[in-house]
Amino acid sequence: MQSASAVKTQESEAPRFPIPAGVHAETVVSVKHYTDRLFSFRITRPQSFRFRSGEFVMIGLPNAEKPIFRAYSIASPSWDEELEFFSIKVPDGPLTSQLQKIVPGDTVLMRPKSTGTLVLDALTPAKRLFMISTGTGIAPFASLVRDPETYEKFDQVVLTHTCRDQAELTYGVELFEGLRNDPLIGELVEDRVTLYSTTTREESSRMGRITRLIEDGRFHADLGISPLDPERDRIMICGSMSMLQDVKTLVEGLGFVEGSNSEPNAFVVERAFVG
Ligand code: A2P
Repeated sequence: MQSASAVKTQESEAPRFPIPAGVHAETVVSVKHYTDRLFSFRITRPQSFRFRSGEFVMIGLPNAEKPIFRAYSIASPSWDEELEFFSIKVPDGPLTSQLQKIVPGDTVLMRPKSTGTLVLDALTPAKRLFMISTGTGIAPFASLVRDPETYEKFDQVVLTHTCRDQAELTYGVELFEGLRNDPLIGELVEDRVTLYSTTTREESSRMGRITRLIEDGRFHADLGISPLDPERDRIMICGSMSMLQDVKTLVEGLGFVEGSNSEPNAFVVERAFVG
């Protein structure tokens, strides 16, 4: 069965191909291009759609008989009236080569079920939450840093974002500007959330892979905080495969144990969308 919004959009825009049963057809509200590799977009949210901040959904386009769907972390918080996504552009990527061309008013398909491990439920209680991201891996954390529940569960939140160059860090920088000025949660997050951005290929005030910065102690020194400790801290990791592997090895070496929805523990990992 299609959602009400799917039926409405299908009638008014008459896509070239039928929309698969059970899939939401939503309208693009806005699109923002950051670099030739990164863009974000917002779509209408189906009224019936519920998700936990940090989860992902399957996104596609109504441009084929059998649309191609890819996993996309929802970057907006669960209270937002719209849904936001942060995407890479892959020139020959089956979905992103087309998705990067969307404009307001276009239709985006979304499967109705969200899922994922980067959720607060998969972590046991602690004082500090560290979110480690590279590239579009910041998306699920853009959702979580805007969710009041994150601050009910943790006293301090640190989001790290590492990209090749400074332009790629813009999404995170703007996210934090918006967070501070947000009437709903601005006051709540003040002094309790920190963005730690680094570049690896362009000269900037803070350079280096997050793995090296944690290992050589610069990360803690820069923030003036005590080192990562499984007694007090929880960690969420999202980015490229090799980064996930390296950070996982690093934090396991510090005594952190991986958790899941069914068995919450000290850290969780999810691969960012890549193709
Ligand atoms: P680097 O430039 O040294 O490869 P990408 O855009 O290729 O997805 O990379 C995003 C960021 O993730 C880059 O700054 C990249 O650094 C960094 N990165 C890639 N692999 C790792 C890894 N194994 N550990 C830590 N950071 C990584």
